[in-house]
Amino acid sequence: MDFTGRVAVVTGAGGGLGRSHALLLASRGAKVVVNDLGGGVRGEGGDASPADTVVAEIKEAGGEAVANYDSVSDPEGARRIIQTAVDTFGGIDILINNAGILRDKTFKKVDLADFRAVLEVHLLGTVYCTHAAWPIMNAAGYGRIVVTTSLAGTSGNLGQSAYGTAKLGMVGLVNSLAIEGARNNVRINAISPGAATRMTDGLNPPAVDRYLTSELVSPGVAYLVSEECTVSGQILQSMAGGYSRVHYFETEGVQFDPQQPLTPEMIADRYDEISDLSTATPTEPGIAGRTEQRLRSIGRWEP
Ligand code: NAI
Repeated sequence: MDFTGRVAVVTGAGGGLGRSHALLLASRGAKVVVNDLGGGVRGEGGDASPADTVVAEIKEAGGEAVANYDSVSDPEGARRIIQTAVDTFGGIDILINNAGILRDKTFKKVDLADFRAVLEVHLLGTVYCTHAAWPIMNAAGYGRIVVTTSLAGTSGNLGQSAYGTAKLGMVGLVNSLAIEGARNNVRINAISPGAATRMTDGLNPPAVDRYLTSELVSPGVAYLVSEECTVSGQILQSMAGGYSRVHYFETEGVQFDPQQPLTPEMIADRYDEISDLSTATPTEPGIAGRTEQRLRSIGRWEP
């Protein structure tokens, strides 16, 4: 897979997963904007050296890269990150939204300022960077975007209500933008990674910890931002060298007569059937779900 001539922005690329993504793309010929605010794991402080170090590593290996130190959570900063790609390398083909912070607390104890900070970096940071890149990619008729979600969002995790909210919010963004970008060959997908980084220090089960390298995740991300990638709107999970797809399903459900009154007791009586996952099929883009199929089943589908 060759990325020669492609311009990539990787946010939060001064360490961990982002650094690994940036090094892999650069080694395959991409020109990379290495963005990193350089703060602590909670998102406090700032330091140019993490981004500078990764840029130096890329250049030493013969690649092309430029550093940017703006925060993704500042709309103007996000615009400057994307503008750095345009000014330095003439455009943007690839955006990997990876920057993130952690402020875990159980919901009972969570400080709303912390909750907001987590949403601002993960969710709004992803929105701001994507919003700045979107018109450029759509006008060019080419774009590949990745957002970084988490099992904490798609499945839930103790003490990660803010993080999980932000991580699942991104999936909503991906679902809509996959539809909006389709006709301009702008594809957007999510990576749900697992890697031993400073963010997960001490959190991973020891049995898998030794296999949790960022270098085992980056090939999946590189595929998603490649020309070869034809999928859009998907969640690719990658952990310890294992790859799978996470998706939403809808059960067959129960169709009541829509012209008759419905009571809470009727829902309770048939709740097992309504929620029976053995009848589930993957959700499709759009908002109707399996409504047509259910209405047809009782002869009430009259377009
Ligand atoms: P990390 O802490 O090593 O990397 C995050 C990077 O983002 C840091 O270099 C940090 O300076 C930068 N950053 C933070 N706030 C920023 C801002 N406002 N603007 C620009 N840069 C900022 O952690 P890791 O593990 O590499 O995380 C990367 C992404 O992967 C995050 O979005 C994280 O939530 C996600 N993730 C990681 C998992 C793991 O197992 N490591 C699991 C699921 C998701």
